[in-house]
Amino acid sequence: MSNRTYSISPSTILSLVKKQSQVQIAFRRKLHQQPELSTQEYKTTALLKKEIQKLNLNILPTSMPTGLLVEIVGDSPGRTIAIRTDIDALPIVEQTGLPFASRNTGSMHACGHDMHMATIMGAVKILTKLRKDIQGSIRIIFQPAEEQPPGGARPMIADGALDDVDAILGLHVDPRVPTGKIGLRDGVTMASVTDFDLIIHGVGGHAARPQTAVDAIVIASEIVSSIQTIVSRQVDPIGSVAITFGMIQGGTARNVIADSVKLTGTARALSPADQKRLPKLIRRVAEKICQAHGARLEMNIIAGYPVLSNSISINKLFAQTYESLFGKGKIVETEPVLGGEDFACYLEHVPGAMVRIGVKNKKIGADKSWHHPQFIADEASLHYATALIVSSVVNFLNE
Ligand code: NI
Repeated sequence: MSNRTYSISPSTILSLVKKQSQVQIAFRRKLHQQPELSTQEYKTTALLKKEIQKLNLNILPTSMPTGLLVEIVGDSPGRTIAIRTDIDALPIVEQTGLPFASRNTGSMHACGHDMHMATIMGAVKILTKLRKDIQGSIRIIFQPAEEQPPGGARPMIADGALDDVDAILGLHVDPRVPTGKIGLRDGVTMASVTDFDLIIHGVGGHAARPQTAVDAIVIASEIVSSIQTIVSRQVDPIGSVAITFGMIQGGTARNVIADSVKLTGTARALSPADQKRLPKLIRRVAEKICQAHGARLEMNIIAGYPVLSNSISINKLFAQTYESLFGKGKIVETEPVLGGEDFACYLEHVPGAMVRIGVKNKKIGADKSWHHPQFIADEASLHYATALIVSSVVNFLNE
């Protein structure tokens, strides 16, 4: 190895970030206008691919029709770091009134994945320019289907996204944190997700002759109520869990007793132990209630994500890098949330962390929660996020 010292100053990086900011904002708005749901991100992928091809970077083969796996191979050997952005949108009718609001009615970038893509694309352009001064390689994961378990992370990993990778960086916009600041938290920050269906098989009949039937609606109601006591009475109140049924389907007419009901639910936990226990507890409660009333239970676990746990050393990298760019006092410790993220799947294989990018700016209405139809992310945050990602990659590889 040569004894050349690799270093790129924060001011060099900040000026490169500034230079491309208008192009970056335009790119973000283009993405925002054409949101696509999980696994349907075809136009998004085409747009990303076009930009990557302009940069002459290697596109690695993947098994999914959407998403993109890209590599910047450094001119000198070294470690490999991965950076990941999700690319999908949500089934929400946008109500922001922004001039670049969704033109794909019923889909919306309401979780800021357009911001993530614009940040990562901006970072990739700068890192490509800087590659002579960087040791090692960068793997870029444009991952589809984050919002819909089983998610795109596991197929990406199976396709080799993490082969030879030493660490991974993730980011997520955060409307709780003001623009210009970032949020970090060591260890567990996001919940495990277990999506499941309960199907209650009863016996149908005439509404006026209940004695001849097994009413699946009555049984389902009891199950929904009783499962609330798992959270309040069976799990340690110091740990955090949530169980929600988002859909109930059953019945065909007012005067017909429903022979079956489907409950569609999701269980969240902040500890792997609770994650393991929850499906068992849910099954026990639902099964016993079905038995008591002469019905049969069918329980299907649809998919899940693990608990997301950030690496202390990668958080330190983020913190030191951010301070070197923007000074002290710009980092907050974010509270854990019961939302899930399949970025957690990568962290089962390599150390990494997800940094929270502050996008809160009340003056422009950027204070609504994720997944809200009026969710707005402050575009001024792109500058901070891009500089952070570029510098963190450089600092990690040239360390
Ligand atoms: Ni998200």
